[in-house]
Amino acid sequence: MKSGKKIAPTVIVIFGGTGDLTKRKLIPAFYNLYIDGWMPDKFAVIGLGRTKLSDESYKDHLYDGLVEFSRKGRPDDAQWQQFNTAISYFESNINDDAAYAGLAAKLEAFDEAWGVRANRLFYLSIAPQFIEAATVHINKYNLANVPASDRIIIEKPFGYNMETAIALNRLLAQTFQEEQIYRIDHYLGKETVQNILAFRFANALFEPLWNRNYIDYIQITVAEQVGVEDRGAYYEHSGALRDMIQNHLLQVLCMIAMEPPISFQAEEIRNRKADVMRAIRRLRPEEVHKFSVRGQYGPGWIGGKQVPGYREETGVDPKSNTETYAAVQLYIDNWRWQGVPIYLRTGKRMQEKTSSITIQFRPVPHSTFSPTQAGNLMPNRLTINIQPTMDIRLRFTAKKQGLEMSLNPAEMVFDYDTCSTQTPEAYETLLLDAMRGDATLYMRSDQVEEAWDVITPILESWESRDSLDFPNYAAGTWGPESAEALIARQGHVWALNLHT
Ligand code: BG6
Repeated sequence: MKSGKKIAPTVIVIFGGTGDLTKRKLIPAFYNLYIDGWMPDKFAVIGLGRTKLSDESYKDHLYDGLVEFSRKGRPDDAQWQQFNTAISYFESNINDDAAYAGLAAKLEAFDEAWGVRANRLFYLSIAPQFIEAATVHINKYNLANVPASDRIIIEKPFGYNMETAIALNRLLAQTFQEEQIYRIDHYLGKETVQNILAFRFANALFEPLWNRNYIDYIQITVAEQVGVEDRGAYYEHSGALRDMIQNHLLQVLCMIAMEPPISFQAEEIRNRKADVMRAIRRLRPEEVHKFSVRGQYGPGWIGGKQVPGYREETGVDPKSNTETYAAVQLYIDNWRWQGVPIYLRTGKRMQEKTSSITIQFRPVPHSTFSPTQAGNLMPNRLTINIQPTMDIRLRFTAKKQGLEMSLNPAEMVFDYDTCSTQTPEAYETLLLDAMRGDATLYMRSDQVEEAWDVITPILESWESRDSLDFPNYAAGTWGPESAEALIARQGHVWALNLHT
């Protein structure tokens, strides 16, 4: 997390330098950090890729990405020219020894020119099957041999299941110490997600209520309007549970449910988060159908436009059994949360794009007001909107203006947009943290493995049986009806607005 200290000279090596992520997220993030004065005084970015490209055409390709995807829009010509002197392209094959020898020479040349052994940040933005080749070669050529200053960032998916995640952790451990490994989950870099820590632990007001005595249930929703876009082939082997719940939603849950850390040290925070993962009750195979719902979108309408069903998307099997929607009900077995239902849901092609957290407090223990007065008496609720709206809203009950005692819900709102229009992108925060050697917002190996363990019973149960009713929700809706039933059993509803 940001603080004013300057960073030592750093060379950033991007495996997958010609890929989509580099163009859409990484370079815009580095550029914005540069413009805002956060980059080290001396830095270099080396993009690796198989395509034959000159430095100049590589830079042009990245420039197009900046224009299209940077939150700051088209870069200023002079600033872009300055920034891009740090960028170079290195044509290389991930399995080719000569390429790593060449990379080693390039890295040493920077050290020599700068008169100091620079920090090295390796960013693996490559398909999982290439990670082994990259790390084995990084090891063989001693490219990351200073553990205090050399780091590796690994993009998701981090494994395909528990077994592969453990294997990947072991593989990485052969070359890197755990402190060098940065497993990225971009949700943790979102401003509003980080604010959960400030909100919870920098205020005395909420923490005493933050437990089973006052909280009735918790919901975390990540709803997307987009479908699978051009990622059908990847998504077919992933599905919503792996793509979103195993990582983003469980990580956000940890921030909401963790015990107060003693300090803001990375290990302390990660320990408290890992405690939550460990305490999440594992479902027994026979319980899976009761506590989870899966869905797949059929054709429908979004924003007045007709859109195809998942099975009609490119790269998708016309009989696909992959879920594009998942909802699960979890419990955390500890003193704080015992018995509080936690509902997580995520889906593609939903009615709205929204990521939000709802903390629903218990109703008042006794109604002082007559039924006519109390008409609209609703329990308190705290909503943390992560995106696209970024705010925190506290619902409380107030008297309606007038001569009679009549109650109505009201809200107190903290709105990010009124504070600043320039919220950093998640990747800016996370890349800066990695350059600074701060792993607070990154996932540790045990957290990742525990997260797989949480979803394994659901994965196995779903994989053992085809869903009979896919597609079971139309694009542009809030998902399958069974998801309403999942939470209605406890008398709850999915929160949508002030009045639900
Ligand atoms: C990614 C998933 O990790 O997160 C995508 O692979 C998903 O399927 C994306 O669309 C959502 O991220 P955000 O930041 O747009 O909510």
